[in-house]
Amino acid sequence: MYSKLKIFTGNANLRLATEVARLTGIPLGDAKVFKFSNDNTFVKINENVRGADTFIIQPTCYPVNDNLMELLIMIDALKRASARNINCVIPYFAYARSDKKDQPRVPITAKLVADLLSAAGASRIVAMDLHSEQIPGFFNIPVDHLSSMPIFARYLQANLDLSNLVVVSPDTGGTARARIMSEKLNCDLAIGDKRRLGNDDKAEVLNVIGNVKDKDALLFDDIIDTGGSLARMAKKIAENGAKRVYAACAHGILSGKAVENIENSPIEKLFITDSIPLGKEKSRCNKIVQITIAELLAIAIKKIHVEESLSILFR
Ligand code: R5P
Repeated sequence: MYSKLKIFTGNANLRLATEVARLTGIPLGDAKVFKFSNDNTFVKINENVRGADTFIIQPTCYPVNDNLMELLIMIDALKRASARNINCVIPYFAYARSDKKDQPRVPITAKLVADLLSAAGASRIVAMDLHSEQIPGFFNIPVDHLSSMPIFARYLQANLDLSNLVVVSPDTGGTARARIMSEKLNCDLAIGDKRRLGNDDKAEVLNVIGNVKDKDALLFDDIIDTGGSLARMAKKIAENGAKRVYAACAHGILSGKAVENIENSPIEKLFITDSIPLGKEKSRCNKIVQITIAELLAIAIKKIHVEESLSILFR
């Protein structure tokens, strides 16, 4: 059934790719992806891919530009080796927050990356929890936009007491996402009114709309980067009388002082997926719990290959 299905990976998240391949029931394809001492990336596909339905699992996490370049070069290699389809599984899509021209003379880098992937020869993108709903529209090829929300919902229902829970969006932009989560968990919703000051990584929390007093609060966002937004909002929620504060974010970038920010915040547990590797040092932080998306990706790959509907994986 899967004879013409092949899964490859670059170096972005070997552990996730290996687990996805295992769950799909086929070994990872043989490809060499490395850098020469002159900093040029080299790719060689070491097996026949003629007529194959190929998948490349490669989140564009840190080092972002290296991982993106690996992906583009792998697409080119597969295209020139006569693969029938080149499906790019990008569970974390870097540059997603650069998705609009909201200031004079700024780029829309997410659109640029979409164009680069298409120009390289990608046939399809499989993404997860993109920062905004308009990003699939940047592509002229199909984009399957998966959601980690059902995975979080299942995990939280099994591991936390949710009887007194309120889901909190850290900013107004994330309200729709947080609302879906609150519906899944059958609980209330509150919204943080956060304003960014300038283009640096600092954020300022201004207010909380909704009741968090005497509640257990779950801050819910797509990305935790420096952790500034979540830590500040967690503090605000605690000041407003929340009993316990948890956080869940699909993509744990955790750059800069993120771990320190989380450690010093009222957040008891931060739940993230493994769309981005955590690394040894960050995994020592016992507030951070990583939940795997390997099965979600494996199911998506199998469904795409046999041309079944994926819509149950979108929300
Ligand atoms: C913003 O719109 C995003 O959803 C996140 O709230 C934000 O990017 C997180 O960044 P940081 O962790 O650096 O505050």
